[in-house]
Amino acid sequence: MRKILITGASSGLGAALARNYACVDAELVLWGRDAARLEAVAAECRARGASCRSDAFDLRDVDGMLARLASLGRVELAIFCAGVGGSVPDSQASESAAAARMTAEVNFVGPVTGATAMAEAMAANGGGQILLVGSIAESFPLPMAPSYAASKAGLALFAEALGIRMARHGVAVSLVSPGFIDTPMSQGLTQPKPFLISADRAAAIIVRAVARGQRRIVVPWQFIGLRSFAMLLPRVWLRAILRRL
Ligand SMILES: NC(=O)c1ccc[n+]([C@@H]2O[C@H](COP(=O)([O-])OP(=O)(O)OC[C@H]3O[C@@H](n4cnc5c(N)ncnc54)[C@H](OP(=O)(O)O)[C@@H]3O)[C@@H](O)[C@H]2O)c1
Repeated sequence: MRKILITGASSGLGAALARNYACVDAELVLWGRDAARLEAVAAECRARGASCRSDAFDLRDVDGMLARLASLGRVELAIFCAGVGGSVPDSQASESAAAARMTAEVNFVGPVTGATAMAEAMAANGGGQILLVGSIAESFPLPMAPSYAASKAGLALFAEALGIRMARHGVAVSLVSPGFIDTPMSQGLTQPKPFLISADRAAAIIVRAVARGQRRIVVPWQFIGLRSFAMLLPRVWLRAILRRL
């Protein structure tokens, strides 16, 4: 049995990843906040043959998360997918301090703390794989989502650094940077969503890339070109374009 932990499994991409990994050989540990939605995903996974347990709690309880991680035993693959998003309306001068704090805690503090603890446990157990879910926003100073872009930029650098450090311990660290995936998070955005893909399709692409041991995953692929083009622009142009969005 391959033990797989997935945070943010109660919705969107995390739920789709859970469904994709659900098979007779998989022992899934699903974390989320909404107990009813999480259990519904767990039931779907069991129907596909997976052994599955779910645990609903708030990831901002970092000590609670670490205690749960310590009790999991050997985990082969840990996916840190939980996140919060959204854009700040023009009617507000800035993001609220409470929202910025929540974004930093859920998108950065939670996965960084959890992945660090998991990396240590995996190294002691002879190896494993960690997947961090970032965003293509990591490459852009988005004025409509400053703390979101920053949290994902920090996560991207963390993934790279942790990956270099843990390689000699047999722990592989991958980062997926999605563009737009059709989930409750993106459904709340009013801006255009180019190359939008379904959560199940994105999950299938991610699962294949993780199986190949790919370290940097961009989904959908069109965002590789979009980001490369944007990075060629002088920064002052990029800022001017983003200001107009
Ligand atoms: N959708 C996109 O277009 C897109 C693009 C780029 C990156 N991403 C990234 O993909 C990941 C998944 O997002 P999604 O689109 O699937 O969004 P989603 O449908 O809103 O799902 C977010 C998940 O995170 C969980 N979560 C949020 N806050 C939490 C907290 N404090 N404690 C525990 N769990 C919490 C949610 O749990 P509950 O629902 O149970 O509260 C839910 O399972 C995120 O990291 C997001 O930044 C998404």
